[in-house]
Amino acid sequence: MDTLTEAGKVEPNRMTRISIKTELPGPEARKVIEMDKKYLVTSTKSLPVVGKRGSGVFVEDVDGNVFLDFASGISVTNMGHVHPYITEKVQQQLKLLWHFAGTDYYYREQVDAAKLLTEVTPGKFDKKVFFSNSGTEANEASLKLAKIHRGRQQFIAFIGGFHGRTQGSLAFTASKSTQHKGLFPWMGGVTHVPFPNPYRNPFGIDGYESPDELTNRVLDYIETYVFKMQVPPEDIAAFLVEPIQGEGGYIVPPMNFHKKLKKLAEENGIITIMDEVQSGFGRTGKMFASEHFGVEPEIMSLAKSIASGIPMGASVVKADLDFPQQGLHSNTFGGNLLASVACVATIEAMKKERAVENAKIQGEYMKKRLNELKEKYPQIGDVRGIGLMLAIDFVKDQRTREPDAKLRDNVEMASYRNGLLLLSTGVSAIRLIPALNVNKIQVEMGIETLEKAIKQSL
Ligand SMILES: Cc1ncc(COP(=O)(O)O)c(C=O)c1O
Repeated sequence: MDTLTEAGKVEPNRMTRISIKTELPGPEARKVIEMDKKYLVTSTKSLPVVGKRGSGVFVEDVDGNVFLDFASGISVTNMGHVHPYITEKVQQQLKLLWHFAGTDYYYREQVDAAKLLTEVTPGKFDKKVFFSNSGTEANEASLKLAKIHRGRQQFIAFIGGFHGRTQGSLAFTASKSTQHKGLFPWMGGVTHVPFPNPYRNPFGIDGYESPDELTNRVLDYIETYVFKMQVPPEDIAAFLVEPIQGEGGYIVPPMNFHKKLKKLAEENGIITIMDEVQSGFGRTGKMFASEHFGVEPEIMSLAKSIASGIPMGASVVKADLDFPQQGLHSNTFGGNLLASVACVATIEAMKKERAVENAKIQGEYMKKRLNELKEKYPQIGDVRGIGLMLAIDFVKDQRTREPDAKLRDNVEMASYRNGLLLLSTGVSAIRLIPALNVNKIQVEMGIETLEKAIKQSL
C-alpha cells in the first residue's frame, strides 16, 4: 500500500512495524505539547503523542517514532490512516468545489452520500438524512425530529451512555459526572434508567449467567419506576440508546435487550433513536451494531467514521419522520462537499476491501487472544465486545470485580511507551479498536505489545 507525503507525492509506505527511537515524548513532541498547554483550553488529552503522518494502522510522530494505532482516532479512521482511495477522491474534489451551502443550494455529492447511507442502514423502509458535523449534532437533530413528530417533550436515556457534549446531548450523557460539573441545570425532560450492564449493574445480577433476568429487570424498572411513578409513557418522545455503550466501557447488553426495548417503545408510541456514532460503520463486524440485536430503529445518529475523519454527522430517519416544514433545523457545514465525497468513498472502499467481514474475522481472533491474557493475568476481570469493538477491564479482584482504574491507566501509558496507542473507556477498561482492515500480523503485534505493557505495570 502507498501513502501520501506532505507534498502530495506518493511514496512507498515504510510503516510496517513499531519503531521507537527517542525517549517519549521526544523533543519535538514536548515542544508541541507545551504550546498546546499555552494556546488550547483544557480538554480531555490522555497520552503525550504528537502525530505527524499516518498510514493504515500506523502513525509516525513528530520525532520519527512509529506507533501501532489501536485507537483509530476514537473509532474514526476505520479504513486506516490516509486510505489511498479515499484520499484520492477527496483530493479530486478539492480541485473542484469545497463548500456550497448544502442547506440552501444543491450538489450531487450530498445526495449520493445520503442515498448510500439510507441503503446501508438497517430497515427496508424509506429513509431520509440530515447531515451535520459531529456525533453530538447528529443527536441534537435526531432528538428534535422525535420531539416534533411525537409532539411529546420527555425522553429516556441510559446510565453509562455517552451522546455528546452540546447542551442537549449532554443532558443524555451519563458516563462520567465530570462531564456535567458546573454545567447544571441540564436540558429538562430527560430521565435516566439503568443500562443492562452484564458485568456490573445496580441489581447485583451476573448478566453473563442470567441475561434474560437482567433484561427483564431493566424493562421492569422502566415500566414500574418511570412509566408508573414518574413520567407517563404517552409523554415520552423517544428512547436515546447506544446498542453497545462506547464511552461507558464497551458494554454489550444481553442479546434480547434491544428487541424487547423496541417492543416496549412501539407499544407506547415511543420512537427508538439508536446512537451508532461509535459502534456503527462496520466496527462490530456488521455494518451496524443494531443488526446484531435484530433491531431496525426509526432514527439513527451517525458520525465518527462515516467520512473517515473529515467531520461529518448524520441522522438517518424513517422518511415519514421528516421535518414537517422548512426552517425547523439547519446548519452551515453539514454534508459539506469534502465530507460527502469522503463518506461515499469510505463506503465504497469498505465494500471493495470487505472490511466488515475482516473486522469480524480479526475481531474473533483478537478476542480469543485477549481471553488468553485474561487466563494468565487475574488483573483482567472481563474481556468484552463484538467484532473489533473490544475492551479489557482491569480489576483488583476477579471475584468482586472491583475496578482498578490505576492499573488500567498504567497499562495505557506503558503500551504507549512500547509503541502501541490505546484509549481507556468506562471506569477501568481499555478499548482495542484498530482499523477494520487490520491484518492478523498487526493484531498479534498489538497483543504482544499489550502483554509486555501489562507485565511492566504489575
Ligand atoms: C455514542 C456516541 N455518541 C455521540 C458522541 C459524540 O460525538 P462527537 O464527539 O463527534 O460530538 C460520541 C463520541 O464519543 C459517542 O461515542
